[in-house]
Amino acid sequence: MSSLSPTVQTRDVRQLGINPNHWYVVARSSEVSNQPINVVLWGQAIALYRDSTGKIHALEDRCPHRQVKLSHGQVIGNELECAYHGWRFNSTGECAAVPYLAENQKLPNCQLRHYPVTEKDGFIWLFPGKDQPSVEPLGLPEWEHLNYIATVSVINTQAHYSYLIENLMDMYHGHLHEDLQAWAEASLQDIDEDNHRVDAHYIAQSYYKIDKIWSISQLFFPALRRLHPEPLDVSYVYPHWVSTLGKDFKIYCLLCPISETETKAYLIHFTSLNAFWRLHKLPVWFRRFIKDSLFGAAQKLLDGLVVQDVKMIEEEQQAYLQNPHRRNFELNRALVSVQRLMRSQVEHG
Ligand code: FES
Ligand SMILES: [Fe+2]
Repeated sequence: MSSLSPTVQTRDVRQLGINPNHWYVVARSSEVSNQPINVVLWGQAIALYRDSTGKIHALEDRCPHRQVKLSHGQVIGNELECAYHGWRFNSTGECAAVPYLAENQKLPNCQLRHYPVTEKDGFIWLFPGKDQPSVEPLGLPEWEHLNYIATVSVINTQAHYSYLIENLMDMYHGHLHEDLQAWAEASLQDIDEDNHRVDAHYIAQSYYKIDKIWSISQLFFPALRRLHPEPLDVSYVYPHWVSTLGKDFKIYCLLCPISETETKAYLIHFTSLNAFWRLHKLPVWFRRFIKDSLFGAAQKLLDGLVVQDVKMIEEEQQAYLQNPHRRNFELNRALVSVQRLMRSQVEHG
């Protein structure tokens, strides 16, 4: 007999929770200043702020005095001050000061939850698990690397995270994007999978070569396209997604699932300049200048892809809510592996 109970085996993937024992991305570095902000990760409201030394902290976004949001307040030194009556909390979530405390009164013994949080490669990574983290944040080595040009697009979708991951792992949906992407005719070759990740290996026909200036025109004039095969690898590295097309492109999707029907994610597109092999001979300040000036070069393209994907994903979610028992007909076996990983992460995480 199987050790899994029937309810576990048949649990609907659209109602899955998350495995909290991973680092999730809750904000971009540039979004967090010494003015606190509110973020939500799987139903938990969190106040993020920088202290006077620039270090990031994450506290439960709830003043224990009257339950209002601490993120309405302000940072005083290294403490977060509530907007309502001015109680202050330190970064470990203890009440550190009450402005009207009488001499015969003690500070209230309230303890807010504080989360492990770290800033890495332009993003704020937060660990919502109860124990100390035993894994590292994924990280994006290309973020600082001078040979990579970054573009960031934000995905806000009213859908369970599984719809987004399945969309990203299923390259046959290239059909939807037609003229917006640099490849066509994806074909799944092989899948590698374990308890942490699914790697789906596709071959696609690419019409782009970064070091050939003519290739850019093909993005706009389909009649000029000259196709060549390139490996297109997409990976679900739980809970995030990474993809490479040949040697020219790398894309990450960093997830912040908000609820069963809402997901935020950051899509980061890197164009590699490695094909310009003499680049490293240029002075670093100049390479930095090029990297910074070209930041966001693919913005229109990336935002356009996101709009198309989000429309489909939200329609899937709506259809599911209206008729949760209707079955899909799925032909892409990568999605079977993806759902298996989501389930096992939640059940054994
Ligand atoms: S509600 Fe926060 S100090 Fe009163
Ligand atoms: Fe897409």
